[in-house]
Amino acid sequence: MPSLTLDTPELAEQYDRVSDLQYEHGQHLLNALQLKPGETLLDVGCGTGRLTAFAARHFIGPTGRVLGIDPLPLRIDIGRRRAEELGLAQLSFNVGQAEALHAVADASADAVVLNSVYHWLPDKAPALAEAIRVLKPGGRIAISSASRERPHDVQRLVSEVLAEAGLGRGQGSGSTPHKVSFGELAFQLESAGFHVDEIRLRRFADRFADADSVLAFNQSSSFGNFLGEFLPQVRQQLIARFNERLQAHRDERGILLHRNLLFAVAHKPATR
Ligand SMILES: C[S@@+](CC[C@H](N)C(=O)[O-])C[C@H]1O[C@@H](n2cnc3c(N)ncnc32)[C@H](O)[C@@H]1O
Repeated sequence: MPSLTLDTPELAEQYDRVSDLQYEHGQHLLNALQLKPGETLLDVGCGTGRLTAFAARHFIGPTGRVLGIDPLPLRIDIGRRRAEELGLAQLSFNVGQAEALHAVADASADAVVLNSVYHWLPDKAPALAEAIRVLKPGGRIAISSASRERPHDVQRLVSEVLAEAGLGRGQGSGSTPHKVSFGELAFQLESAGFHVDEIRLRRFADRFADADSVLAFNQSSSFGNFLGEFLPQVRQQLIARFNERLQAHRDERGILLHRNLLFAVAHKPATR
């Protein structure tokens, strides 16, 4: 189970600086939602709100409303600061969790987005029940999630390091602890009452300058959970082994790692 208590101001600021990968593939989700000016969008697990602000500026505009929700208050603070700095009155943020969207009224949102969040949720059903509750009839949801069938290179390397050290993996720890298969994602969406429009697997080739950049990306993206279940000394040793393995992915342009993400788009039927 990922911990929501390991975040620090440094990790939150770092995520805001190094989350270009999530920011870029999140824009695929926003495009898939076919957002229109004046609509109401809910960004669940919004992190520091980079994508949330992008949606508010470029898709929803001043006549609509965008709400970002995340359980990590330090990241919500950064989102709020950004909304103020950019003068985006249509953009607001709340601390909260996908499984309990108390601040959001029934049938009030046109669209819901969860970008790189779904694989953090230990139990999908309550989160999807909340998403369908807050959506208007016909409302859309878009999700990106790590794929169980095609784990990220980083996840494979971590598993190899742990196996080599004879260590098991704690339940729900790592960088994509609750990833799903294509079939699971379809089943979960349909069980919650959604009609699935599309699910596709996309492969991304990511370049990092060095091992420190890979670590910074994974530590801040996992809000401190990357190998976070191990005592500091053990963790240091595991990270050293992880760094060694990264060298096999190095070429003259840095370190090349692949991620595979499922992208799903679904909608709440107009009549249920
Ligand atoms: C990799 S970040 C993605 C942030 C953002 N969506 C983006 O595209 O940059 C994962 C986020 O999931 C959030 N998260 C973890 N558990 C959550 C939960 N139960 N409900 C909502 N968000 C959650 C974390 O707080 C973190 O901000």
